[in-house]
Amino acid sequence: CGIVGYIGTDKTRDVLLNGLEKLEYRGYDSAGIAMLNDEGVHLFKVKGRIQALRDKVDNDVQSTMGIGHTRWATHGEPSVENAHPHQSTSGRFTLVHNGVIENYYELRDAYLKDITLTSETDTEIVVQLIELVNNEEQDVMKTFRRVMGMLKGSYAIALIDKENPDMIYVSKNRSPLLVGLGEDFNLVASDAIATLKETNTYLEIEDGEVVLVKPAGVTIEKLDGTVVTREPYIVETDAADTEKGTYDYFMLKEIDEQPFVIRKIIQHYQDEENNIKVEQAIRTEMAEADRIYIVAAGTSYNAGLVGKQVLENVAGIPVEVHIASEFSYNMPLLSEKPLFIFISQSGETADSRSVLVKTQAMGYPSITVTNVPGSTLSREADYTLPLYAGPEIAVASTKAYTAQIAVLTILAVDTAVAKGLPLEFDPLQELAIVANAMETLTDQKETFEQMSLDLFKDTRNAFYIGRGVDYYVVQEASLKLKEISYIQAEGFAGGELKHGTIALIEDGTPVIAIATQENVNYSIRGNVQEVAARGANTCIVSMEGLDQPGDTVVLPHVHSLLTPLVSVVPMQLLAYYAAVQRDCDVDKPRNLAKSVTVE
Ligand code: G6P
Repeated sequence: CGIVGYIGTDKTRDVLLNGLEKLEYRGYDSAGIAMLNDEGVHLFKVKGRIQALRDKVDNDVQSTMGIGHTRWATHGEPSVENAHPHQSTSGRFTLVHNGVIENYYELRDAYLKDITLTSETDTEIVVQLIELVNNEEQDVMKTFRRVMGMLKGSYAIALIDKENPDMIYVSKNRSPLLVGLGEDFNLVASDAIATLKETNTYLEIEDGEVVLVKPAGVTIEKLDGTVVTREPYIVETDAADTEKGTYDYFMLKEIDEQPFVIRKIIQHYQDEENNIKVEQAIRTEMAEADRIYIVAAGTSYNAGLVGKQVLENVAGIPVEVHIASEFSYNMPLLSEKPLFIFISQSGETADSRSVLVKTQAMGYPSITVTNVPGSTLSREADYTLPLYAGPEIAVASTKAYTAQIAVLTILAVDTAVAKGLPLEFDPLQELAIVANAMETLTDQKETFEQMSLDLFKDTRNAFYIGRGVDYYVVQEASLKLKEISYIQAEGFAGGELKHGTIALIEDGTPVIAIATQENVNYSIRGNVQEVAARGANTCIVSMEGLDQPGDTVVLPHVHSLLTPLVSVVPMQLLAYYAAVQRDCDVDKPRNLAKSVTVE
């Protein structure tokens, strides 16, 4: 979910709606805003997107303060009743919330038995509780602090009080929320990109703090009332980076940006002598670790799989890759000197953060590889390796995946050099070759559009196969296809298909093979023959030097450890065009959110 709050000038409606639009990547099943003026609270809520909210909001309402929310449903189905903001029974308090209140049944049963709730959300409990406690305290700030202290779980909350129209009450625990500072206004947002048009100056809020946001100033307090002072920081992102320009969808723009991102990474991670440069403290941690545990979710997990291959091959350290949501509850036996690497585009994924909290409590060092320095995972881990990919807006991740692999490669090479291990290639030069190869592929969009049509036009399912590192890429390829086109897709180890799944092959079932590795070139082609013999509509994506007559796509040659960076590009484009052909909402696939801040 995403939150915006604004106080100061009569731009409230525009700031809230524009901000929520930028936050739609965090969820888009329902939305709402509340604006306060002399007449009272004006509340507008819809099921659906921000555009629907725009259509519903009364443009005549003038207001200098308000809060808004775009939702990814956790408690209660997407509906107008369950959409935020939620109000207390008397209508005095109005509140938006991102996160999950874990003790909401307990709070409801203990305090709110006599109150008729109007939604199925955990959030309504909080606003009702505030009204109840305030009846006793008769002091909203005291009440707010007290109620925040009663909540268990994750939350970012913004509250407005009809009787105190010149302040917004804000608090957070384990969910992101920032305060933005302006000359005649202040604001709050889940992510700075929501409000970059208004300001680039932000204040971090830490867990368990309560913040009073007024037009002329901001006060941060701890739950016990102690005042905290904090310096603001400047967000470097350019507001223009969050626009899609002439592209139909952000996803295609982001696929196209990949060569530039790789070049930017090269630039940021090299010193004046063109050697790789990584923070000395990270180098020391890498050299001391006896095993690396990569923890991530979704596409970042798939990048971690490729990262394992590179780190083990180049830096000679054993690596395990774990799904964040499994790790916490099913922790493997750890080695003596583990080092944790969290990979996360957003730096906000709650599943990953929960692992970080646990491993930190155990005293283990951690690095976050993220596109958002300053994000929760970045702030809380010991070290950060930035991706420099620029804002990624499409829910389906593309440029962050390749950036993650490139940064892990740089880390692997840096470690190898520090350990005095022999290096068989010049990594920065090889990455520059990768960037050129990516460009060759993004220049061939028509080819992939046609190929996508040939493969996926009438299909309900599709299989991707690969061996070795290609197996890791086909997992990402299938995730891309299923998340945006809704075609059921799986990525398999080439040899594994015949142990069960081959039973699903029918006449015309698409099977896409990636063949970029010499040692398995023969065997993966054998697997293609096996499915072709059973009617599959096969296609081989191979690499220059390993190609054979009849291959559908031949990728430009790159170093064998870096092939995923190149082979994934046609996979992204195939998925993109499949989604476009099916009239899917490419950037905002159903049921998904880009940044999942609940466990
Ligand atoms: C969500 C998104 C995925 C993403 C995953 C991990 O599920 O829909 O696209 O890969 O979260 O996100 P992160 O920001 O941690 O990389």
